[in-house]
Amino acid sequence: MKSLQEQDPELNKYLELETERQNLNFELIASENFASRATIEAMGSVLTNKYAEGYPGKRYYGGCEHVDKVENLARERAKKLFNADWVNVQPHSGASANAAIYLAYMKPGDTLLGLDLAHGGHLTHGSPVNFSGITYNAQFYGVEKKTGRIDLNIVREKAKEVQPRMISIGASAYTRDFDYEGFRDIANEVGAFLWMDMAHTAGLIAAKVLNDPLPYSDVVTTTTHKTLRGPRGGMILVGKDHENRLGVVAPKSGRVKNISEVLDSAIFPGTQGGPLMHVIAAKAVALGEALQPDFIQYQKQVKLNAKKMAESFIERGYSLVSGGTDNHLILVDLRNKGLNGKIAEEALDRAGITVNKNMVPFDTESPFVTSGIRIGTPALTTRGFKEEEFTEVVRLIDKVLQKPTDESNLADVKKSVQEMCKAFPLYNFTTV
Ligand SMILES: Cc1ncc(COP(=O)(O)O)c(C=O)c1O
Repeated sequence: MKSLQEQDPELNKYLELETERQNLNFELIASENFASRATIEAMGSVLTNKYAEGYPGKRYYGGCEHVDKVENLARERAKKLFNADWVNVQPHSGASANAAIYLAYMKPGDTLLGLDLAHGGHLTHGSPVNFSGITYNAQFYGVEKKTGRIDLNIVREKAKEVQPRMISIGASAYTRDFDYEGFRDIANEVGAFLWMDMAHTAGLIAAKVLNDPLPYSDVVTTTTHKTLRGPRGGMILVGKDHENRLGVVAPKSGRVKNISEVLDSAIFPGTQGGPLMHVIAAKAVALGEALQPDFIQYQKQVKLNAKKMAESFIERGYSLVSGGTDNHLILVDLRNKGLNGKIAEEALDRAGITVNKNMVPFDTESPFVTSGIRIGTPALTTRGFKEEEFTEVVRLIDKVLQKPTDESNLADVKKSVQEMCKAFPLYNFTTV
């Protein structure tokens, strides 16, 4: 058989260009990271050939003896990492994991109470353009205007008013930790299920540098490719002693009996077909990495770097939503600098710095323009950047934003970005 390069040079060229882009740019998108060579190797393996509908020991296809072991390994590692009683490693993505949660816990028309997308929530938490907002009665809580933080009194009031069947926690652009115990109390008060989507913060939670949602949530979903640093994919987890707690809070529908069976069937056959066994293998690799002591060190550094970035931006006169960060990301409100997210994202991109424009709470700009940018530290921390380098990253961002249309300024910054990237090499391969 021919290699990719021999068989398809055109496609191979695009992969080489993307590898070069990743190697030579500052990757600051908060939801991205750099998977290890071993993880990428597992993803590019012959396991992509195997159909394995069902679950280990209960498949609809023959020849699953080896992939059963792979899936069990991924499950056991995930359980150990998150101290979970039960896990499903088959979701193709975060959105797929979330779709299964709705199928398991809600009937069409039931009420969900989630964090507003414009305040940092995710599309799958009830946005009107997503199946979750189309199928269910989505109600929202937001952050408090003055502090930029979630106020549980406001959440409680809203929960009492709308009587949700399920409350969701979790965000794509929220810079503070969550009070899971407080949310649990509210869920209990109104008889709602509590679902945490830890897609962004799973790695920090695994390393115990953020609060742990598993003891308080009925169910937890995650992606595997953000702070967790694995392959693109999702997981569903249930914490210890879950069945007992469920008995206390479950509305008397009788629908949810054995929650692990209900959740398994919500993935297959409920919302997915055959599992991506090559990706599940890669999840096993990444989860194995996350069980090593240096992963904890990495997550601590992710957090320290974000804190340093926040301080450096504030020193340079920038305004941050919530005034700082507890996690891996910061949200810069650019209004006091006379800029918007679109201008900033485009100028930074031209200088080799990748961020995304982002709405800030109570934004008056459209989602295509926005007043802010979201910046995350996981990817550059994987490269080895520490506080000193992140101080320099902020200096370079500031340099761009001071003269965003000055092409020679952008070229100067790009040169510095590439020099720093070369000093912290990333991938020396395109395919493995
Ligand atoms: C909180 C949250 N949930 C779910 C998702 C969806 O994950 P995916 O893109 O893998 O479908 C994201 C992705 O950004 C997210 O931030």
